[in-house]
Amino acid sequence: MRQVFDLVIQAAPSRSTILIQGESGTGKELVARAIHANSSRAERSFVTVNSGNLPPDLLESTLFGHVKGAFTGAVYPKKGMFDLADKGSVFFDEIGNVPLETQAKLLRVIQERDFMRLGGMETIKVDVRIIAATNVDLRQMMEEGRFREDLFYRLHVISIQLPPLRDRKDDIPLLVQHFLQKYGEENHRKADLEVTPEALDLMTAYDWPGNVRELERAVVLTSRSRIGVELIPDHVRKVPNFHMPAFVVPPEGISFKDVITDFEKRLIESTLEAAGGVQKRAAELLHIKPTTLNEMIKRYDIRPRRRRQTNGTETPEPPPEPHRAVANEI
Ligand SMILES: Nc1ncnc2c1ncn2[C@@H]1O[C@H](COP(=O)(O)OP(=O)(O)OP(=O)(O)O)[C@@H](O)[C@H]1O
Ligand SMILES: [Mg+2]
Repeated sequence: MRQVFDLVIQAAPSRSTILIQGESGTGKELVARAIHANSSRAERSFVTVNSGNLPPDLLESTLFGHVKGAFTGAVYPKKGMFDLADKGSVFFDEIGNVPLETQAKLLRVIQERDFMRLGGMETIKVDVRIIAATNVDLRQMMEEGRFREDLFYRLHVISIQLPPLRDRKDDIPLLVQHFLQKYGEENHRKADLEVTPEALDLMTAYDWPGNVRELERAVVLTSRSRIGVELIPDHVRKVPNFHMPAFVVPPEGISFKDVITDFEKRLIESTLEAAGGVQKRAAELLHIKPTTLNEMIKRYDIRPRRRRQTNGTETPEPPPEPHRAVANEI
């Protein structure tokens, strides 16, 4: 994400076309808006085109406008989105859905900075910055002949890849806090929203196939004054691919507390070993906060079998100032 912020900072001021790629819900539109907001075009329009929603003819008349009599029903001339976005930015969401014919016209806008209205003869000059987003593999579409090669390379001048949330789990607690605060402010409930460490652990363990959007929904839908494990949706609670040992309960019974304690201790010991004694890494492996792990290590008096120099609890360096500006924006 820091690389993404870097790119946003570097790319925002120029007019260059930007392609944002990432799974659904990773924040493509948010990044597009951040680029616009950090550019010299910020005071002008940011126009979003949902490329997938319209049949080709309608898409073109929406983009370029039309002249009177261009088609049946075109009684009046009409301006298009490119007129609206002059000196601003146009965000093409799902660019992969733009039909080949329209792709040619888009290329012309990028290269020649002009376009023609539907049914028109006159070329109209326009100054827009194009930001495109996709969650499909455009390169593959290009190889299959479904996306123009020249347009692909034009769009690809600057490309931003948004990682899925499961590949940046450290962000989950930050995002949860962010959404709680946002939700709290929207509902005029300032400080009384919180999440328990156990619930946060479950949320960190889950893979979030719907990415940040799914996480935001979960927080908003579950937030009362306090998100505890009981409020976490069932599918988030399940931790895949972990084999529990088969328990044999002796006839005289067994202390529940002792079994759990023993189990926790052994899990922590094995994880510490796997992490080479580095607590921070072990906490990552267990999807819990380093402080939570540290508390348990002290409580159970666990001594790592292999010791390393680092105590593993160092906090990461804060990002330099410009990063923070965009991070806040995003
Ligand atoms: N880094 C972030 N910080 C705060 N909120 C975020 C972040 N990333 C995404 N979101 C929020 O998650 C939701 C989804 O983001 P966005 O609409 O930008 O995703 P998208 O990639 O365009 O998704 P789709 O492909 O489904 O259109 C939005 O409500 C957005 O505000
Ligand atoms: Mg989107």
